[in-house]
Amino acid sequence: MTKVTIEPVKEHIGGIVHVDRAHVCDDDVVEACREALEDRGVLVFPRANFSDAEQLSFTDKFGERVSFTGTVPGGEGESEELYKITLDAETNPEPEYVLGTFFWHMDGVTIDQPLPKATMLSARKLSPTGGQTQFASTFAAYDNLPDEEKQAIDDLKVIHRMIASMRPLYLEMPAERHERYTSMATEMVHPLVWTQSDGRKSLVIGTHADEVMGMSISEGRALIARLTEWSAQPAFTYSHEWQDGDFVVWNNCGVMHRVIPYDSDCGRMMHRTTIMGSERLGVPLKQLENA
Ligand code: OGA
Ligand code: MN
Repeated sequence: MTKVTIEPVKEHIGGIVHVDRAHVCDDDVVEACREALEDRGVLVFPRANFSDAEQLSFTDKFGERVSFTGTVPGGEGESEELYKITLDAETNPEPEYVLGTFFWHMDGVTIDQPLPKATMLSARKLSPTGGQTQFASTFAAYDNLPDEEKQAIDDLKVIHRMIASMRPLYLEMPAERHERYTSMATEMVHPLVWTQSDGRKSLVIGTHADEVMGMSISEGRALIARLTEWSAQPAFTYSHEWQDGDFVVWNNCGVMHRVIPYDSDCGRMMHRTTIMGSERLGVPLKQLENA
């Protein structure tokens, strides 16, 4: 009998993993999940109820874990190795970074390191309203563009800034916040269309995509907005309605994601781990300017 089956959710995205929890860290199961992640973009382990230790074991089996602890506000907790995603003021003194998750994004795009391969969340406390996490396949989005649009965008480069992903949070950003967001991240230049090592192409977009090189600000942002809307069409997206103990893994290199807003005092809590990517996609803007 096979230990694991992965049931597709939609044609372009989503997979439900059926596996006995005793076998979840077996080599062949982890390998099957790694493969399925490429094809499905997001994998759901319904009511897995992993402890922190089990989540860490699975994460470490899956790939090289990146620790955000200490570098991202809210990262400091009882368990140093998991990042707690919550708006709860007692755990998270700087909710801005989590409020930024209300908008389409990819993780770790404005850090000068290989783009994180996968993000993993365990549901520890659900929100009574909102809180669905939504995923959009940017592989499917690119593949299904008309050929002439593919050609028009194939060689474009985009400047990504953390400040851009924080703009939707403010009417006017306080100067102190502006300073903090610019000093803690790196302005990164990434290709708009990413040809990955297996030859498949995906879009690298999200709120952090601030400026298309060689275009006016308005034209570039309009292009990013159109591609974001295109990618978020129902055929390419999966919306996850969380249940207690669900564990979800997504391919951060081919999926953008966001969460439907939830109340900041509802106690919603997700425990996050991250897998390091293998490809250094872009370069810091400074490096190009100095070249
Ligand atoms: C994240 C994220 C979404 C959520 O942790 O990177 O975007 O549903 N989380 O909390
Ligand atoms: Mn995220």
